Amino acid sequence: MSKVFYITTAIDYANAAPHIGHVYEKILADFLARWHRLDGYQTYFLTGTDEHGEKIARAAAKAGKSPKEFVDELSEGSFRALYDRLQISYDDFIRTTQERHKKYVQQVLQRVYEAGDIYYAEYEGLYSVGAERFVTEKELVDGVLPGDSEPPVLRREANYFFRMEKYRPWLLEHLQQNPEFIQPVGYRNEVLEMLKEPIGDLSISRPKERVPWGIPIPWDENHVTYVWFDALLNYVSALVSKGIFEPYWRHCWHVIGKDILKPHAVFWPTMLKAAGLPLYEKLVVHGHILALDGRKMGKSLGNAIDPAEMLEKYGVDALHYALLRDTTLAADSPFGEPVIVSRLNSDLANDLGNLLSRVRTMLLKYCGGVLPEPSGADSDIAREGVSLAAKVRPLIRELRFNLALEEILQYVRSLNKYVNDQKPWELARDDSRKKTLEEVLYTVVEGLRIASVLLEAALPNKAKELRSGLGLGDFTLAQTETWGLSPAGTRIPEEAPILFPKLEAMPQNAQRPTSSAPDTTATKPTASSHEPHSSLITIDDFAKVELRVAEVIKAEKHPKADKLLVLTLNVGDHTRQVVSGIAQFYTPQSLVGKKLVLVANLKPATLRGVESQGMILAGEDAQGRIVVVTPEADLPPGAKVR
Ligand code: MSP
Repeated sequence: MSKVFYITTAIDYANAAPHIGHVYEKILADFLARWHRLDGYQTYFLTGTDEHGEKIARAAAKAGKSPKEFVDELSEGSFRALYDRLQISYDDFIRTTQERHKKYVQQVLQRVYEAGDIYYAEYEGLYSVGAERFVTEKELVDGVLPGDSEPPVLRREANYFFRMEKYRPWLLEHLQQNPEFIQPVGYRNEVLEMLKEPIGDLSISRPKERVPWGIPIPWDENHVTYVWFDALLNYVSALVSKGIFEPYWRHCWHVIGKDILKPHAVFWPTMLKAAGLPLYEKLVVHGHILALDGRKMGKSLGNAIDPAEMLEKYGVDALHYALLRDTTLAADSPFGEPVIVSRLNSDLANDLGNLLSRVRTMLLKYCGGVLPEPSGADSDIAREGVSLAAKVRPLIRELRFNLALEEILQYVRSLNKYVNDQKPWELARDDSRKKTLEEVLYTVVEGLRIASVLLEAALPNKAKELRSGLGLGDFTLAQTETWGLSPAGTRIPEEAPILFPKLEAMPQNAQRPTSSAPDTTATKPTASSHEPHSSLITIDDFAKVELRVAEVIKAEKHPKADKLLVLTLNVGDHTRQVVSGIAQFYTPQSLVGKKLVLVANLKPATLRGVESQGMILAGEDAQGRIVVVTPEADLPPGAKVR
């Protein structure tokens, strides 16, 4: 067997109902699973729920339920039920309370203990219940771990520890030698930073009297294992329980959110090494979904969107497509209902659905509903069609799903243009041009076949439905690289439902975070912000934005945020201070003397206590790095950019 692919998601804490962030991650993984299946990989997709630990025991107590009763309801009734409705194409759904998992965790613990890599010690430190781990002072911002709602508490406890520090040099070397081990590159850089200093040993147990809700340590009944040692092993226990560790494990890609980077990039590889298991192949890290106002989404903030409601209103395909098309993994992505509506109307209804109904109408009217014989003439459309997969594949390999989908939609737009230019309705009026008419209609069908196959991983139902509307069945990715596979003589159905009914647009101004929020400066999802046609701006709109050349005269780290730099800029007649989210990609020194492009008339905003008076322009390169925009030749500071 030559092509094997194993894909996993983080297992969600079964302590509250699933939110859009959980759904986003499952859709990312589902896309990769479907893509690889179409590409002929023997694929296995695992998801599930994380059900032990203090956080869950507390939530159960609050709900007046036993932990088991509580997690059963959430895991089956909420998470799994929602993922089924979303058509997440998982092969296995693991729950950490299952016997198969507990048994395996105990085996690995015993093995690592016997090898001498687990010891017992007393420890005092700051403990985050939210992240279920001890944290260091350095990780805290304003006394709180980013993402937590409460500050960590001081705890003194005797626990079992895993000798993690021992494996640091090995892990560092592995990362240095395998640049694609953690992607996108910004997250890899974060881990390289973490590994520069001692990482310490990892506390892996809790006294049973305090946290009984866990897996017992096999050699000490007074302790249960700590949440990460339990949870991370799900990725292997699921395979082992089905007897399929071989062939899948070595081809494993983990999809996770940025908040659990350290456990997956540091704890997990060192645990695997100590247990004598091979490493996973790749860690795919994504940013968070934010509300459209650029803030964290939260029920209490009143800006959260309910994934179940979105699914009900817009259907599986629109939700999958919009979450893939309007986000970028390298950064956090604002997302909301108007984004779904806008994508549905533009890409799906206007560009794709409309083209299908146009070509169907013409085939029924001019060709008796039968796909004509092509003449075999060469055309640009055919050449672009068969080379589309070669453009899309590397984008998917680089995890730039938004750009991959845009590339396919560009092709669909060129098909629409082709119809407009060729005017089949005029060709149909002239009998002598029947061959040309048939060639044009065949070309559009073939182009749509190719586009639909390449879109199938993002449109699990509608891509097939589109082909059914043309009387066509399934194809592999490789079959998009050959022109002419739609069989001439195929009869198309007389009736076909409208692929994507158009919806009333939602207010455009609700679509994106307001421009006065420069906290998202360079970390904005730059690559995903191609606006659909409906939101074209006029030259007058553009003239409202004042762009100027600005020279960096000083740059330093933001005192409270690792990802931000504070830049002092010379803008000709005055200086400005701008806070920019580029610290992962530029050292402060490397920016001094550089000329950048500044949005000079943005309302000032305060970012983590530092005022930002504008925003600098930047884009994302093929490796996911944020790159600042600089003038091609020397322009003086303050020069207007138009
Ligand atoms: N149980 C742990 C993971 C253990 S994996 C061995 C956990 N659970 S979680 O429910 O808190 O998060 C599950 C996944 O959802 C994580 O990858 C997390 O990053 C992701 N998300 C949580 N909030 C998110 C957003 N707002 N946006 C995108 N993903 C987010 O962590």
